[in-house]
Amino acid sequence: MRLTILGGGGFRVPLVYGALLTDRGEGRVTDVVLHDTDDSRLHAVRRVLDEQASTVSDAPRVTATTDLDEALRGADFVFSAIRVGGLQGRADDERIALAQGVLGQETVGAGGIAYGLRTVPVAVDIARRVARLAPDAWVINFTNPAGLVTEAMSRHLGDRVIGICDSPVGLGRRIARVLGADPHEAWIDYVGLNHLGWVRGLRVAGRDELPRLLADPHLLGSFEEGRLFGADWLQSLGAIPNEYLHYYYFNRETVRAYQEAGRTRGAFLRDQQADFYARARRADVSALDAWDRTRAEREATYMAENRETAGAGERAADDLSGGYEKVALALMRGIARDERTTLILNVRNRSTLCALDAEAVIEVPCLVDANGAHPVAVDPLPGHATGLVCAVKAVEREILAAAASGSRASAVKAFALHPLVDSVNVARRLVEDYTAVHPGLAYLT
Ligand code: G6P
Ligand code: MN
Repeated sequence: MRLTILGGGGFRVPLVYGALLTDRGEGRVTDVVLHDTDDSRLHAVRRVLDEQASTVSDAPRVTATTDLDEALRGADFVFSAIRVGGLQGRADDERIALAQGVLGQETVGAGGIAYGLRTVPVAVDIARRVARLAPDAWVINFTNPAGLVTEAMSRHLGDRVIGICDSPVGLGRRIARVLGADPHEAWIDYVGLNHLGWVRGLRVAGRDELPRLLADPHLLGSFEEGRLFGADWLQSLGAIPNEYLHYYYFNRETVRAYQEAGRTRGAFLRDQQADFYARARRADVSALDAWDRTRAEREATYMAENRETAGAGERAADDLSGGYEKVALALMRGIARDERTTLILNVRNRSTLCALDAEAVIEVPCLVDANGAHPVAVDPLPGHATGLVCAVKAVEREILAAAASGSRASAVKAFALHPLVDSVNVARRLVEDYTAVHPGLAYLT
């Protein structure tokens, strides 16, 4: 079985390859094709993978190419994990938004819109090529903003593209542990958009255990989201939000914290990864050691500013390995081997959330089998959550319209309609400033 990884020179590729190495089952991936636009990054990542495979017999064969069509031909699965504009682009997204007093995070608010505007055209081009060159392949989209990008690709690939994120899984696992439940046994009642969802219940043997958590401030203070949002607010909500909702519920504080930070997340990762790629190319350095240290530092500093403004302290040791690769592998195995499983994924709504149309990509528990991912019926969201979901979906639709038409007015509208952008004038200035720095936005006229 052949797996093609787009963004194959990316930093998280060794996580995926490490997971593949543990898979000894029949029908496992035997060939990995790495595609990247940057040959030197491919070279560095291959050195890490070689070290990972050195003690494993029958490790999947790895090849690398900068030719996209060649990478896609013959693929059974395609993982898409690209970063249009690189980490410098991410840092620019943050800087420009923060200068206008709004959030620049890569998936939330103005930063997410800028990133979406330059990523969607590239993702659509990939989707069209997959449809032509590998029409039977399944595409698993990791590229952020994951919900938006999956929806863009689904217009060309239908249900053959599925978006993934590890944050709902991590959240479900943390809640289950705090409640003393086995995360694999528990049913996590979660729904929303990517990075905009809520856990409304956690059922074990037919019983909802979430009320027990919400009633206990001590338990609420014992895990990441509990500390981030605070027991009071979670009790008021009656649900546990995805950690990215911290940017909404505590917007003023997070914007200020990011403005005051010495370096934004994107700038930190840009410098950190430049250092890693330089070291991983050196013959006298273990690329795997360098990668491992870099990864540990990245995990430990994840959402550091949010945790600081909330007084949430350090991340728990258990949370330091996200599980991103595990979700992807479980999904791929579920489809390839008809191993039925339930995963929280980004798929088309169909009739799951009645406030959205059937084509809208949402994040929801899905039953996975050889026919793909099927969203499970869930209770409706309460009004305040439906309001946010609809507002953000409307923004995503403007981004898709801008990417399809090249209309600058649609781009302005996308920024202006976002609940975290507080003036149409700010939206206009954001479009001015983003188009001035990003070559990937030159199509907006
Ligand atoms: C979480 C999010 C991902 C994100 C990742 C890394 O897992 O769900 O969407 O890509 O964190 O975040 P970072 O800030 O380290 O790039
Ligand atoms: Mn994510």
